[in-house]
Amino acid sequence: MKREQWGSRAGFILAAVGSAIGLGNIWRFPYMAYENGGGAFFIPYLFAMLTAGIPFMIMEFSLGHKLRGAAPRAFSKLGLKFEWLGWFQVFIAAIIAVYYVAIIGWAISYLSYSFTQSWGTDTNAFFFSEYLKLGDNSPSKLGSLQSHIAIPMAIAWAITFAAIFTGVKGGIERASKIMMPLLFIMVIALIARVAFLPGALDGLNYLFQPDFSKIMDAKVWSAAYGQIFFTLSVGFAIMIAYSSYLPEKSDINNNAFMTVLINCGFSITAGVLIFGVLGYMAQEQAKPITEVVSAGVGLAFVTIPAAINLLPAPYILGPLFFLALVVAGLSSHISIIEAVTSAIIDKLNITRKLAASLVCGSGFVVSMAFATNGGLLLLDLVDYFINNVALLASCLVELIVIAWLLKVSDIRSYVNSISEFGIGKWFEICIRFLSPAMLAVILGTNLVNTFNDGYGGYETSDLLMLGWGLVAAMFIVAVIINVSSKPQPQQEAKL
Ligand code: ALA
Repeated sequence: MKREQWGSRAGFILAAVGSAIGLGNIWRFPYMAYENGGGAFFIPYLFAMLTAGIPFMIMEFSLGHKLRGAAPRAFSKLGLKFEWLGWFQVFIAAIIAVYYVAIIGWAISYLSYSFTQSWGTDTNAFFFSEYLKLGDNSPSKLGSLQSHIAIPMAIAWAITFAAIFTGVKGGIERASKIMMPLLFIMVIALIARVAFLPGALDGLNYLFQPDFSKIMDAKVWSAAYGQIFFTLSVGFAIMIAYSSYLPEKSDINNNAFMTVLINCGFSITAGVLIFGVLGYMAQEQAKPITEVVSAGVGLAFVTIPAAINLLPAPYILGPLFFLALVVAGLSSHISIIEAVTSAIIDKLNITRKLAASLVCGSGFVVSMAFATNGGLLLLDLVDYFINNVALLASCLVELIVIAWLLKVSDIRSYVNSISEFGIGKWFEICIRFLSPAMLAVILGTNLVNTFNDGYGGYETSDLLMLGWGLVAAMFIVAVIINVSSKPQPQQEAKL
């Protein structure tokens, strides 16, 4: 089968940016920045972006482009024994896909509520009790399926399915070309209004005011690295799949820089938007800003609805905000599913239509676990282990494979031979020494801390089964697939 191709360079960049910009930028980044030292978070964040994010993006673009395969095929071409790493990454993508779609589902519901602000004045009680119907559930005691959550999730799956089913150029590229400009316009419109609200500047001061005492805290560095890999969609099979559809003549270096810089610029813009709103809210309620901010999921679904209640023309600004969240989430969800679909097409040699149906069909069924009363708790637990253990481990192993077992200078010569501007020796230093050392320390600290202290107060049996057990199962199945793979003729390729 001939490999599909992007229709244009702009199409590829919009798709890559669409993958990178997602829920992670709009609700995760602002709160992470706030929680991890405000302005001081930008130091580890920018350090991680420059020394790990950009080199990783260049590396993954070159792997996909040169080896012309989704992650498992690309890694197996480097050496048959590395195929498991590709599958491990595909499994990370598959798991992220099934819980990520739940948040998009919530955002779709909130989009419909936002026209009349039917979430009422107590947005906390509304979200947890009325909407999620979270009772005395736990990650393993999920309760029953909630159709009002399942239906918007089904809508999100239908849109993702349509894009993946239709193909790289006609589906994913076309969807990105509509979604990304729409997202940028909506966010600019929101910022233009929010910036002039009273108190908005105080909110920004809060976000950017550095708390330097946090800089020596290993947790802050871990948060920054975790955020960079998640937000850039690297280390979980996406960018390798996307770049495998690039035409032969492609400016890898420039594309990678653009994708990273647009994504991180967008994150900071989203931070400005959210904290501008919070500053206004604090002023309206005559409270300090620390009292109006809430964590992670709560920020988008508790604090923002409460802020929307206070905004002028809430029936316009509210829908704009939630539509932006839905669009950002969907373009990322499409890419996460494409990472899985393209791996299946490569492996089983089946048509895209069949692979898309299998992946989206089974993904939909599994994702229903997150449409239950305890769905939020399951999401929280799985997300923690995927981001703080599996994803960081995957990135570290990828670096070790590329940098120590193969020749990283070959990647540099390869990308420099096809790009407009060349990258220097710094690339090799980051890939070989700096990033693996940072990742090893951060992953080691996370493993020890999680092992000793658990996470989020969840039961040990839940942590063992849905956290450690899940990650171990992903690894074992990936190895089994690898061991049972037969070498293909001309399997190994040099970079
Ligand atoms: N990169 C995507 C996000 O940040 C997955 O949401």
